[in-house]
Amino acid sequence: MINGKLYLDTNGNPIHAHGGWMLDYGGYTYWYGEDRRDNHYVSCYRSSDMKNWEFRGHILSTTSPKAHTSGRFDLRLSWDKEPLPETNENLIVPGGEGKVNIERPKVLYNALTKKFVLWAHYENGQNYLDARACIASCDTPDGEFTYHGSFNPFGEMSRDCTVHTDANGDTYFISASRDNADLHIYRLTEDYMNVDRQVHTLFQGEFREAPALFYRRENGKYYLLSSWCTGWRPNQGTCATAHKMNGRWSLNYPFGDETTFRSQPAFVLPYEKENGETVFLYFADRWGGGDDELVQKHENPYFLSSYIVLPIRFDEY
Ligand code: GAL
Repeated sequence: MINGKLYLDTNGNPIHAHGGWMLDYGGYTYWYGEDRRDNHYVSCYRSSDMKNWEFRGHILSTTSPKAHTSGRFDLRLSWDKEPLPETNENLIVPGGEGKVNIERPKVLYNALTKKFVLWAHYENGQNYLDARACIASCDTPDGEFTYHGSFNPFGEMSRDCTVHTDANGDTYFISASRDNADLHIYRLTEDYMNVDRQVHTLFQGEFREAPALFYRRENGKYYLLSSWCTGWRPNQGTCATAHKMNGRWSLNYPFGDETTFRSQPAFVLPYEKENGETVFLYFADRWGGGDDELVQKHENPYFLSSYIVLPIRFDEY
């Protein structure tokens, strides 16, 4: 792949995995992400060499099967009512007529239930005011996921999000809250189907979004990358670190350049090279098609992104 250019799957079609995530399972790496075309929400690709990506399916769409869980969340995956009047706050946002928004999907494998559990950011498709998390699950990594609904964790707003699993299996959902002013960290229940408790509130009043979290074993630190809130337009990325998820986090300090190389974080992939060294790959979106003319000419270029992948260099231990 070339940063900022179209990235094609093994059928020669552009990869739709915006705001995405990768999961290793059964000898493959699965790449999930937003697909705003037609009635799709989330698409899945897989690879065994990190170069050739096979399209596996549209795993979440307007017609996905639905099932309540103990959370009794809102199961709507489309709307058919009269649209709200157009105001600055109510616009038909990405994805098309009648669709809701499912953004930044992340998929976890739960060893206890043997289910693949998807977490994402949900909005009603007409404005960004619901600010909810949503979940879906499946028995396979690339099958049709069953939608379990959207909700506000403990009543809180929840927008841009990510997940992280510790070596001991503790898994966290991290999302922008209080109209993006703060970031919340929630520990998930054992089955990953709900939030168990809120373990931290970060960056009070700093308006950080697009979180991407990784752990570096060699110095025992968590790193949390994020962007500032300027919609689809890129800005200076920052990073904060901590030794414990619920411990004291450092201040945010900048990484990359003032537009983070014209990108916004999607996730960070720890990748083990043949010599056993682990490198951390920054995967990001260059929204609006980046440098690719085909995407720029799309009627809704801002709903698409090209991908940026860069190795992270650490200049402090
Ligand atoms: C960004 C966010 C994207 C998308 C966009 C909509 O701030 O990171 O995921 O929600 O806003 O304007």
